[in-house]
Amino acid sequence: MARTSSVFECTACGARFSQLVGKCGSCKSFGTVEEIRGSLKKGLDRARSAFAQSDYTGPVSLLDVSVSDSGRTPIGLSELDRVLGGGVVPGMVVLLGGEPGIGKSTLLLQWAARVSGQTLYASGEESERQIRIRAQRLGAELPSIHLLAETDVRVILATADQMRPALLLVDSIQTLYDPEFDSGAGSVSQVRGCATLLTRWAKTTGTPLVLVGHVTKDGGLAGPKVLEHLVDTVLSFEGDRHHHHRMLRTLKNRFGAAFELGVFAMTENGLVPAEGNPFFLETEPSPGCAATVVLSGTRPVVVEIQALVASAGLGIPRRTALGIDGQRLAMLCAVAERRGGIQLHDRDVYINVAGGLEIEDPSADLAVVAALTSSATGRLLKHKCIFVGEVGLTGEVRPVSQTQLRMQEAKRLGFESAVIPSPSATNNNMDINCHLEKNVERLRAKLWLEKIVDE
Ligand code: TYD
Ligand code: MG
Repeated sequence: MARTSSVFECTACGARFSQLVGKCGSCKSFGTVEEIRGSLKKGLDRARSAFAQSDYTGPVSLLDVSVSDSGRTPIGLSELDRVLGGGVVPGMVVLLGGEPGIGKSTLLLQWAARVSGQTLYASGEESERQIRIRAQRLGAELPSIHLLAETDVRVILATADQMRPALLLVDSIQTLYDPEFDSGAGSVSQVRGCATLLTRWAKTTGTPLVLVGHVTKDGGLAGPKVLEHLVDTVLSFEGDRHHHHRMLRTLKNRFGAAFELGVFAMTENGLVPAEGNPFFLETEPSPGCAATVVLSGTRPVVVEIQALVASAGLGIPRRTALGIDGQRLAMLCAVAERRGGIQLHDRDVYINVAGGLEIEDPSADLAVVAALTSSATGRLLKHKCIFVGEVGLTGEVRPVSQTQLRMQEAKRLGFESAVIPSPSATNNNMDINCHLEKNVERLRAKLWLEKIVDE
Protein backbone atom coordinates (compact mmCIF):
# COMPACT_ATOMS: atom_id res chain seq x y z
CA MET A 1 0.00 0.00 0.00
CA ALA A 2 1.40 3.35 -0.99
CA ARG A 3 1.89 5.65 1.96
CA THR A 4 1.03 9.28 1.56
CA SER A 5 3.85 11.23 3.13
CA SER A 6 2.60 13.87 5.51
CA VAL A 7 4.62 16.79 6.67
CA PHE A 8 3.88 18.64 9.89
CA GLU A 9 4.82 22.25 10.31
CA CYS A 10 4.82 24.64 13.26
CA THR A 11 2.60 27.63 12.49
CA ALA A 12 4.66 29.81 14.79
CA CYS A 13 8.20 29.22 13.60
CA GLY A 14 7.92 27.05 10.49
CA ALA A 15 9.92 24.09 11.85
CA ARG A 16 9.10 20.79 10.11
CA PHE A 17 8.32 17.44 11.71
CA SER A 18 7.64 14.00 10.28
CA GLN A 19 4.96 13.29 12.85
CA LEU A 20 2.39 15.21 14.81
CA VAL A 21 3.85 16.53 18.03
CA GLY A 22 2.14 18.51 20.78
CA LYS A 23 5.09 20.80 21.48
CA CYS A 24 7.28 22.32 18.83
CA GLY A 25 10.87 21.24 19.47
CA SER A 26 12.18 24.41 17.90
CA CYS A 27 10.23 27.32 19.37
CA LYS A 28 8.78 25.36 22.33
CA SER A 29 5.20 26.50 21.75
CA PHE A 30 2.34 24.10 22.39
CA GLY A 31 -0.37 23.09 19.95
CA THR A 32 1.04 24.99 16.98
CA VAL A 33 2.14 22.01 14.84
CA GLU A 34 -0.25 21.22 11.99
CA GLU A 35 -0.29 18.84 9.08
CA ILE A 36 0.43 20.15 5.60
CA ARG A 37 -0.13 18.09 2.51
CA GLY A 38 2.53 16.35 0.39
CA SER A 39 2.75 18.43 -2.77
CA LEU A 40 3.58 21.52 -0.78
CA LYS A 41 7.30 20.90 -0.82
CA LYS A 42 7.40 21.14 -4.60
CA GLY A 43 5.64 24.49 -4.54
CA LEU A 44 7.91 25.82 -1.84
CA ASP A 45 11.03 24.82 -3.72
CA ARG A 46 9.66 26.65 -6.75
CA ALA A 47 9.06 29.79 -4.73
CA ARG A 48 12.52 29.58 -3.21
CA SER A 49 14.18 29.32 -6.58
CA ALA A 50 12.06 32.18 -7.94
CA PHE A 51 14.72 34.67 -6.92
CA ALA A 52 17.47 32.71 -8.54
CA GLN A 53 15.72 32.34 -11.89
CA SER A 54 14.97 35.99 -12.52
CA ASP A 55 17.29 37.62 -15.06
CA TYR A 56 20.37 36.08 -13.46
CA THR A 57 23.46 37.77 -14.81
CA GLY A 58 26.16 36.70 -12.38
CA PRO A 59 27.94 38.81 -9.76
CA VAL A 60 28.61 42.51 -10.36
CA SER A 61 31.35 44.73 -9.00
CA LEU A 62 30.18 46.95 -6.15
CA LEU A 63 31.07 50.06 -8.14
CA ASP A 64 28.94 48.94 -11.08
CA VAL A 65 25.79 48.82 -8.97
CA SER A 66 23.54 51.69 -9.94
CA VAL A 67 22.45 53.86 -7.02
CA SER A 68 21.00 56.74 -8.95
CA ASP A 69 17.41 55.87 -8.03
CA SER A 70 17.97 55.37 -4.31
CA GLY A 71 16.58 58.78 -3.37
CA ARG A 72 14.25 59.02 -0.44
CA THR A 73 10.82 60.56 -0.85
CA PRO A 74 9.09 61.94 2.25
CA ILE A 75 5.45 60.90 2.49
CA GLY A 76 4.25 64.05 4.18
CA LEU A 77 2.95 62.47 7.38
CA SER A 78 5.70 63.62 9.73
CA GLU A 79 5.54 60.80 12.27
CA LEU A 80 5.40 58.12 9.57
CA ASP A 81 8.38 59.65 7.78
CA ARG A 82 10.26 59.65 11.05
CA VAL A 83 9.81 55.91 11.68
CA LEU A 84 10.72 55.06 8.08
CA GLY A 85 13.98 56.95 8.49
CA GLY A 86 12.96 60.07 6.56
CA GLY A 87 10.73 58.75 3.80
CA VAL A 88 10.26 55.98 1.28
CA VAL A 89 13.08 54.41 -0.74
CA PRO A 90 12.19 52.79 -4.11
CA GLY A 91 11.50 49.07 -3.73
CA MET A 92 11.24 49.38 0.05
CA VAL A 93 9.18 46.61 1.62
CA VAL A 94 7.48 47.52 4.89
CA LEU A 95 5.72 45.12 7.22
CA LEU A 96 3.15 46.87 9.41
CA GLY A 97 1.98 44.83 12.39
CA GLY A 98 -0.49 45.61 15.14
CA GLU A 99 -3.55 44.53 17.09
CA PRO A 100 -6.93 44.50 15.34
CA GLY A 101 -8.55 47.93 15.39
CA ILE A 102 -5.37 49.83 16.19
CA GLY A 103 -5.45 51.75 12.88
CA LYS A 104 -3.39 49.82 10.32
CA SER A 105 -5.90 50.13 7.48
CA THR A 106 -6.46 53.78 8.38
CA LEU A 107 -2.74 54.47 8.11
CA LEU A 108 -2.56 52.73 4.71
CA LEU A 109 -5.31 54.93 3.29
CA GLN A 110 -3.72 58.09 4.65
CA TRP A 111 -0.41 57.02 3.15
CA ALA A 112 -2.07 56.29 -0.21
CA ALA A 113 -3.70 59.72 -0.21
CA ARG A 114 -0.28 61.37 -0.06
CA VAL A 115 1.32 59.48 -2.92
CA SER A 116 1.82 61.42 -6.12
CA GLY A 117 0.88 58.72 -8.58
CA GLN A 118 -1.38 55.72 -8.48
CA THR A 119 -1.78 53.39 -5.53
CA LEU A 120 -2.95 49.81 -5.74
CA TYR A 121 -4.67 48.81 -2.50
CA ALA A 122 -5.25 45.06 -2.38
CA SER A 123 -7.52 44.12 0.48
CA GLY A 124 -8.50 40.65 1.57
CA GLU A 125 -10.03 41.98 4.77
CA GLU A 126 -12.57 44.57 3.67
CA SER A 127 -14.83 45.13 0.69
CA GLU A 128 -14.30 48.04 -1.69
CA ARG A 129 -17.40 49.66 -0.24
CA GLN A 130 -16.07 49.58 3.32
CA ILE A 131 -12.79 51.08 2.20
CA ARG A 132 -14.57 53.85 0.32
CA ILE A 133 -16.64 54.71 3.40
CA ARG A 134 -13.47 54.94 5.46
CA ALA A 135 -11.80 57.05 2.77
CA GLN A 136 -14.76 59.46 2.95
CA ARG A 137 -14.19 59.91 6.67
CA LEU A 138 -10.50 60.45 6.12
CA GLY A 139 -10.88 62.90 3.25
CA ALA A 140 -8.91 60.45 1.12
CA GLU A 141 -11.45 59.84 -1.64
CA LEU A 142 -9.10 60.14 -4.56
CA PRO A 143 -9.26 58.74 -8.10
CA SER A 144 -5.59 57.74 -7.83
CA ILE A 145 -6.34 55.06 -5.22
CA HIS A 146 -7.33 51.80 -6.90
CA LEU A 147 -8.97 49.11 -4.82
CA LEU A 148 -8.72 45.39 -5.42
CA ALA A 149 -10.68 43.09 -3.12
CA GLU A 150 -8.65 39.99 -3.88
CA THR A 151 -6.80 37.31 -1.98
CA ASP A 152 -5.08 35.43 -4.81
CA VAL A 153 -1.51 36.71 -4.82
CA ARG A 154 -1.08 35.85 -8.52
CA VAL A 155 -4.04 38.08 -9.46
CA ILE A 156 -2.65 40.90 -7.33
CA LEU A 157 0.75 40.59 -8.99
CA ALA A 158 -0.73 40.45 -12.49
CA THR A 159 -2.82 43.57 -11.76
CA ALA A 160 0.16 45.39 -10.28
CA ASP A 161 2.31 44.42 -13.24
CA GLN A 162 -0.20 45.89 -15.64
CA MET A 163 -0.94 49.00 -13.62
CA ARG A 164 2.59 49.82 -12.39
CA PRO A 165 1.41 51.76 -9.31
CA ALA A 166 3.65 54.12 -7.35
CA LEU A 167 2.73 52.25 -4.15
CA LEU A 168 1.39 48.75 -3.53
CA LEU A 169 -0.56 48.12 -0.34
CA VAL A 170 -1.57 44.64 0.85
CA ASP A 171 -4.03 44.29 3.74
CA SER A 172 -3.19 41.72 5.04
CA ILE A 173 -0.50 39.17 4.16
CA GLN A 174 -2.32 36.52 6.23
CA THR A 175 -5.42 36.65 4.00
CA LEU A 176 -3.48 35.98 0.78
CA TYR A 177 -3.00 32.59 -0.82
CA ASP A 178 -1.07 31.25 -3.73
CA PRO A 179 -3.08 28.63 -5.68
CA GLU A 180 0.15 26.76 -6.36
CA PHE A 181 0.41 25.79 -2.70
CA ASP A 182 -1.96 23.36 -1.09
CA SER A 183 -2.20 24.76 2.39
CA GLY A 184 -4.81 27.31 3.48
CA ALA A 185 -4.43 31.08 3.61
CA GLY A 186 -2.57 32.20 6.72
CA SER A 187 -0.46 29.04 7.05
CA VAL A 188 3.28 29.49 7.41
CA SER A 189 4.05 28.27 3.91
CA GLN A 190 1.39 30.46 2.29
CA VAL A 191 2.52 33.58 4.14
CA ARG A 192 6.13 32.88 3.30
CA GLY A 193 5.39 32.07 -0.34
CA CYS A 194 3.12 35.08 -0.96
CA ALA A 195 5.49 37.49 0.81
CA THR A 196 8.43 36.17 -1.25
CA LEU A 197 6.57 36.74 -4.52
CA LEU A 198 5.41 40.22 -3.57
CA THR A 199 8.83 41.26 -2.27
CA ARG A 200 10.50 40.04 -5.41
CA TRP A 201 8.08 42.06 -7.51
CA ALA A 202 8.66 45.19 -5.41
CA LYS A 203 12.44 44.85 -5.70
CA THR A 204 12.49 44.25 -9.45
CA THR A 205 10.11 47.12 -10.24
CA GLY A 206 11.37 49.51 -7.54
CA THR A 207 7.86 49.94 -6.15
CA PRO A 208 7.41 50.55 -2.43
CA LEU A 209 5.30 47.78 -0.89
CA VAL A 210 3.48 47.73 2.44
CA LEU A 211 2.30 44.44 3.92
CA VAL A 212 -0.06 44.52 6.86
CA GLY A 213 0.61 41.65 9.28
CA HIS A 214 -1.51 40.22 12.07
CA VAL A 215 -0.13 39.81 15.56
CA THR A 216 -0.37 36.80 17.84
CA LYS A 217 -2.07 37.02 21.19
CA ASP A 218 1.15 37.89 22.96
CA GLY A 219 1.78 40.79 20.63
CA GLY A 220 4.46 39.33 18.32
CA LEU A 221 4.03 39.36 14.56
CA ALA A 222 2.05 36.34 13.38
CA GLY A 223 3.48 34.04 10.77
CA PRO A 224 6.99 32.83 10.16
CA LYS A 225 10.01 34.69 11.46
CA VAL A 226 11.31 34.64 7.90
CA LEU A 227 8.70 37.27 7.08
CA GLU A 228 10.58 39.77 9.24
CA HIS A 229 13.86 38.79 7.58
CA LEU A 230 12.39 39.20 4.12
CA VAL A 231 11.20 42.78 4.48
CA ASP A 232 13.33 45.92 4.81
CA THR A 233 11.40 47.59 7.59
CA VAL A 234 9.20 46.23 10.34
CA LEU A 235 6.82 48.73 11.95
CA SER A 236 4.73 47.87 14.94
CA PHE A 237 1.59 49.82 15.71
CA GLU A 238 1.04 49.87 19.45
CA GLY A 239 -1.07 51.54 22.05
CA ASP A 240 -4.19 50.94 23.96
CA ARG A 241 -7.30 50.99 21.80
CA HIS A 242 -8.96 52.91 24.61
CA HIS A 243 -6.27 55.57 24.70
CA HIS A 244 -6.39 58.11 22.02
CA HIS A 245 -2.76 58.13 21.05
CA ARG A 246 -1.07 55.41 19.05
CA MET A 247 2.62 54.60 18.83
CA LEU A 248 4.33 53.47 15.68
CA ARG A 249 7.64 51.81 16.43
CA THR A 250 10.42 50.69 14.09
CA LEU A 251 11.57 47.20 15.04
CA LYS A 252 13.88 46.83 12.05
CA ASN A 253 14.98 49.23 9.34
CA ARG A 254 17.49 48.59 6.61
CA PHE A 255 17.20 52.25 5.59
CA GLY A 256 17.32 54.08 8.92
CA ALA A 257 17.51 53.83 12.70
CA ALA A 258 15.69 51.03 14.51
CA PHE A 259 13.57 51.67 17.62
CA GLU A 260 12.40 54.98 16.22
CA LEU A 261 9.09 56.11 17.67
CA GLY A 262 6.23 57.94 15.97
CA VAL A 263 3.24 59.17 17.91
CA PHE A 264 -0.20 59.75 16.45
CA ALA A 265 -3.52 60.78 17.87
CA MET A 266 -6.54 58.83 16.58
CA THR A 267 -9.24 61.40 15.83
CA GLU A 268 -12.51 61.20 13.95
CA ASN A 269 -10.59 62.31 10.88
CA GLY A 270 -8.02 59.56 11.16
CA LEU A 271 -4.48 59.58 12.48
CA VAL A 272 -2.92 62.97 13.21
CA PRO A 273 0.75 63.35 14.18
CA ALA A 274 0.73 64.08 17.91
CA GLU A 275 1.67 67.56 19.02
CA GLY A 276 4.01 68.08 21.94
CA ASN A 277 4.47 65.18 24.27
CA PRO A 278 1.49 62.96 25.08
CA PHE A 279 3.29 61.01 27.81
CA PHE A 280 3.86 63.87 30.15
CA LEU A 281 0.95 65.83 31.46
CA GLU A 282 1.76 68.74 33.69
CA THR A 283 -0.16 67.99 36.87
CA GLU A 284 -0.06 69.20 40.43
CA PRO A 285 3.07 67.82 42.09
CA SER A 286 2.34 64.84 44.30
CA PRO A 287 4.54 62.36 46.17
CA GLY A 288 5.60 59.35 44.10
CA CYS A 289 5.86 61.13 40.76
CA ALA A 290 9.18 61.64 39.00
CA ALA A 291 9.87 62.67 35.42
CA THR A 292 12.60 61.31 33.19
CA VAL A 293 13.67 61.46 29.54
CA VAL A 294 14.07 58.16 27.73
CA LEU A 295 15.37 57.70 24.22
CA SER A 296 13.22 55.83 21.78
CA GLY A 297 15.38 55.45 18.69
CA THR A 298 16.70 58.95 18.20
CA ARG A 299 13.72 60.58 19.85
CA PRO A 300 13.88 61.88 23.42
CA VAL A 301 10.56 61.31 25.20
CA VAL A 302 9.75 62.83 28.57
CA VAL A 303 7.71 60.43 30.68
CA GLU A 304 6.28 60.47 34.14
CA ILE A 305 7.06 57.56 36.43
CA GLN A 306 4.52 57.05 39.19
CA ALA A 307 5.25 55.00 42.28
CA LEU A 308 3.03 53.88 45.09
CA VAL A 309 4.45 52.29 48.21
CA ALA A 310 1.74 50.86 50.44
CA SER A 311 1.95 48.69 53.50
CA ALA A 312 1.64 45.02 52.62
CA GLY A 313 -0.76 42.81 54.49
CA LEU A 314 0.38 39.43 55.59
CA GLY A 315 2.45 37.42 53.16
CA ILE A 316 4.94 38.31 50.48
CA PRO A 317 4.95 41.98 49.51
CA ARG A 318 4.07 42.65 45.87
CA ARG A 319 6.20 44.33 43.24
CA THR A 320 3.99 45.37 40.35
CA ALA A 321 5.45 47.12 37.31
CA LEU A 322 3.49 48.59 34.40
CA GLY A 323 5.68 49.92 31.62
CA ILE A 324 9.04 48.82 33.03
CA ASP A 325 10.54 45.38 33.43
CA GLY A 326 9.45 43.57 36.61
CA GLN A 327 12.96 42.19 37.31
CA ARG A 328 14.40 45.66 36.99
CA LEU A 329 11.87 46.99 39.49
CA ALA A 330 12.77 44.23 41.95
CA MET A 331 16.43 45.20 41.61
CA LEU A 332 15.74 48.92 42.01
CA CYS A 333 13.64 48.23 45.12
CA ALA A 334 16.55 46.35 46.64
CA VAL A 335 18.97 49.16 45.78
CA ALA A 336 16.60 51.82 47.12
CA GLU A 337 16.31 49.89 50.37
CA ARG A 338 19.96 48.98 50.91
CA ARG A 339 21.62 52.08 49.48
CA GLY A 340 18.90 54.71 49.53
CA GLY A 341 17.81 53.93 53.08
CA ILE A 342 14.07 53.55 52.58
CA GLN A 343 12.12 50.67 53.98
CA LEU A 344 10.42 48.51 51.37
CA HIS A 345 10.74 44.89 52.51
CA ASP A 346 7.33 44.90 54.19
CA ARG A 347 5.58 47.13 51.67
CA ASP A 348 3.79 46.61 48.37
CA VAL A 349 5.35 48.55 45.51
CA TYR A 350 3.56 49.64 42.34
CA ILE A 351 5.19 51.44 39.44
CA ASN A 352 3.30 52.85 36.48
CA VAL A 353 4.64 54.66 33.45
CA ALA A 354 2.00 57.27 32.64
CA GLY A 355 0.57 57.19 29.12
CA GLY A 356 1.08 53.48 28.50
CA LEU A 357 4.65 53.66 27.16
CA GLU A 358 6.88 50.60 27.58
CA ILE A 359 10.33 51.71 28.74
CA GLU A 360 13.45 49.70 27.98
CA ASP A 361 15.97 52.50 28.41
CA PRO A 362 17.81 52.04 31.77
CA SER A 363 18.17 55.82 32.06
CA ALA A 364 14.77 55.79 33.78
CA ASP A 365 16.27 53.96 36.81
CA LEU A 366 17.07 57.10 38.74
CA ALA A 367 13.52 58.40 38.29
CA VAL A 368 12.13 55.07 39.53
CA VAL A 369 14.29 55.23 42.65
CA ALA A 370 13.35 58.88 43.19
CA ALA A 371 9.64 58.12 42.78
CA LEU A 372 9.89 55.17 45.17
CA THR A 373 11.73 57.26 47.75
CA SER A 374 9.21 60.06 47.38
CA SER A 375 6.23 57.76 47.83
CA ALA A 376 7.79 55.81 50.71
CA THR A 377 8.66 58.98 52.64
CA GLY A 378 5.60 61.01 51.64
CA ARG A 379 7.76 63.91 50.54
CA LEU A 380 7.56 65.83 47.30
CA LEU A 381 10.35 65.77 44.77
CA LYS A 382 11.78 69.07 43.65
CA HIS A 383 9.30 70.73 41.32
CA LYS A 384 10.09 70.89 37.56
CA CYS A 385 13.08 68.62 38.04
CA ILE A 386 13.95 65.71 35.79
CA PHE A 387 15.87 62.56 36.78
CA VAL A 388 18.12 60.81 34.28
CA GLY A 389 20.60 58.02 35.02
CA GLU A 390 21.12 54.30 35.21
CA VAL A 391 21.38 52.85 38.72
CA GLY A 392 23.78 50.01 39.54
CA LEU A 393 23.70 47.49 42.38
CA THR A 394 26.04 49.50 44.56
CA GLY A 395 23.72 52.46 44.25
CA GLU A 396 26.01 54.28 41.84
CA VAL A 397 24.34 56.48 39.24
CA ARG A 398 25.83 55.81 35.83
CA PRO A 399 25.97 58.15 32.89
CA VAL A 400 23.69 57.57 29.93
CA SER A 401 24.04 58.44 26.26
CA GLN A 402 22.86 61.68 24.66
CA THR A 403 22.52 63.68 27.88
CA GLN A 404 22.53 66.93 25.96
CA LEU A 405 19.70 65.88 23.65
CA ARG A 406 17.65 64.72 26.62
CA MET A 407 18.21 67.96 28.50
CA GLN A 408 17.16 70.00 25.49
CA GLU A 409 13.87 68.12 25.34
CA ALA A 410 13.34 68.55 29.10
CA LYS A 411 14.03 72.26 28.77
CA ARG A 412 11.57 72.52 25.88
CA LEU A 413 8.86 71.04 28.09
CA GLY A 414 9.50 73.53 30.83
CA PHE A 415 11.78 71.66 33.24
CA GLU A 416 14.10 73.91 35.18
CA SER A 417 16.56 71.52 36.73
CA ALA A 418 17.87 68.01 36.34
CA VAL A 419 19.53 65.35 38.45
CA ILE A 420 22.08 63.59 36.29
CA PRO A 421 25.18 61.45 36.94
CA SER A 422 28.41 63.32 37.67
CA PRO A 423 30.64 62.59 34.67
CA SER A 424 28.10 64.27 32.37
CA ALA A 425 29.32 67.52 33.91
CA THR A 426 32.40 67.56 31.73
CA ASN A 427 30.46 68.97 28.80
CA ASN A 428 28.12 71.01 30.85
CA ASN A 429 26.95 73.66 28.46
CA MET A 430 23.31 72.82 28.87
CA ASP A 431 20.96 75.60 29.78
CA ILE A 432 19.22 73.64 32.46
CA ASN A 433 20.28 73.70 36.06
CA CYS A 434 22.04 70.36 36.61
CA HIS A 435 22.50 68.70 40.00
CA LEU A 436 25.15 66.08 39.74
CA GLU A 437 24.71 62.89 41.66
CA LYS A 438 27.11 59.98 42.01
CA ASN A 439 25.08 57.73 44.21
CA VAL A 440 21.46 57.24 45.22
CA GLU A 441 22.50 57.48 48.87
CA ARG A 442 22.44 61.22 48.77
CA LEU A 443 19.16 61.52 46.89
CA ARG A 444 17.13 61.31 50.00
CA ALA A 445 18.74 64.18 51.77
CA LYS A 446 18.84 66.59 48.88
CA LEU A 447 15.73 66.64 46.86
CA TRP A 448 12.75 67.35 48.98
CA LEU A 449 10.72 70.47 48.91
CA GLU A 450 8.51 69.85 51.86
CA LYS A 451 7.38 67.11 54.09
CA ILE A 452 3.64 66.66 53.65
CA VAL A 453 2.91 63.39 55.40
CA ASP A 454 4.65 61.77 58.30
CA GLU A 455 7.20 59.16 57.44
P1 TYD B 1 -8.47 50.24 11.42
O1 TYD B 1 -7.60 51.04 10.56
O2 TYD B 1 -9.64 49.57 10.81
O3 TYD B 1 -7.66 49.17 12.25
P2 TYD B 1 -6.92 47.86 11.77
O4 TYD B 1 -6.82 47.89 10.29
O5 TYD B 1 -5.58 47.97 12.47
O6 TYD B 1 -7.70 46.72 12.29
O7 TYD B 1 -8.91 51.22 12.59
C1 TYD B 1 -10.10 51.07 13.17
C2 TYD B 1 -10.26 51.89 14.40
O8 TYD B 1 -9.93 53.24 14.26
C3 TYD B 1 -11.71 51.82 14.75
O9 TYD B 1 -11.83 51.39 16.07
C4 TYD B 1 -12.23 53.19 14.53
C5 TYD B 1 -11.03 54.06 14.61
N1 TYD B 1 -11.06 55.19 13.67
C6 TYD B 1 -11.16 56.47 14.17
O10 TYD B 1 -11.22 56.70 15.38
N2 TYD B 1 -11.18 57.53 13.30
C7 TYD B 1 -11.12 57.36 11.94
O11 TYD B 1 -11.12 58.36 11.19
C8 TYD B 1 -11.03 56.03 11.45
C9 TYD B 1 -10.97 55.77 9.98
C10 TYD B 1 -10.99 54.98 12.34
MG1 MG C 1 -7.67 46.58 8.94
